[in-house]
Amino acid sequence: MPPLALGVLASGRGSNLQALLDACETGGFPARVRLVVSDVATAHALERARRRGVEARHVDPKGFPSREAFDRAVTEILREAGVDLVCLAGFMRLLGKAFVAAWPHRIMNIHPALLPAFPGLHVQRKAVEYGVKISGCTVHFVDEGTDTGPIIVQAAVPVLDDDTEESLAARILREEHRIYPQAIRLFAEGRLEVRGRRVMVRGAAGGAAAPAGALVNPS
Ligand code: GRF
Repeated sequence: MPPLALGVLASGRGSNLQALLDACETGGFPARVRLVVSDVATAHALERARRRGVEARHVDPKGFPSREAFDRAVTEILREAGVDLVCLAGFMRLLGKAFVAAWPHRIMNIHPALLPAFPGLHVQRKAVEYGVKISGCTVHFVDEGTDTGPIIVQAAVPVLDDDTEESLAARILREEHRIYPQAIRLFAEGRLEVRGRRVMVRGAAGGAAAPAGALVNPS
């Protein structure tokens, strides 16, 4: 089987893109980053892609009369590149209905909170301010809502008394870099089955094989 072709959309720093690029270079990883698209010309993500010899394109939203026109252009670019799975990695624009419909269960996003808690922006700050004891990150399929699609993988981390937005974000980010490649691997191996809101993972350690302990904070 040829590796799954990923099209990564990113607007900024690109550390999740980097995690995907690194994962793709490990032996046996069943996917490759085919193309990176950014709506921001100066996004470090574009630089990270080019450094690895991956095609990187800036698509300027200002060059299009509407969001739909921008979305159509990006879809076209991804299709021409032969992309199988679209991965949002810090992509700061909302994608419209038509874009989502063009890639049914073929768009993933990484979100730095345990959805459905804290959708949207600045969620690490909101988690600290709210006083939750556990937060984390979520990889999910993208549907028409904001951070509402079926959940594929989540990782939990404790929120500590002396946490700031930054320290919590850093703890969560380490887990993001682990679970995004994991979710893509599961997809590439054909092990994900979407049943309504639920994503079943074939052959995953569940039930008796899952670790017995729960994450309790404070322990
Ligand atoms: C990450 O926290 C991701 O979960 C969110 O945006 C941030 C992007 O960071 N969607 P990076 O550009 O991947 O470093």
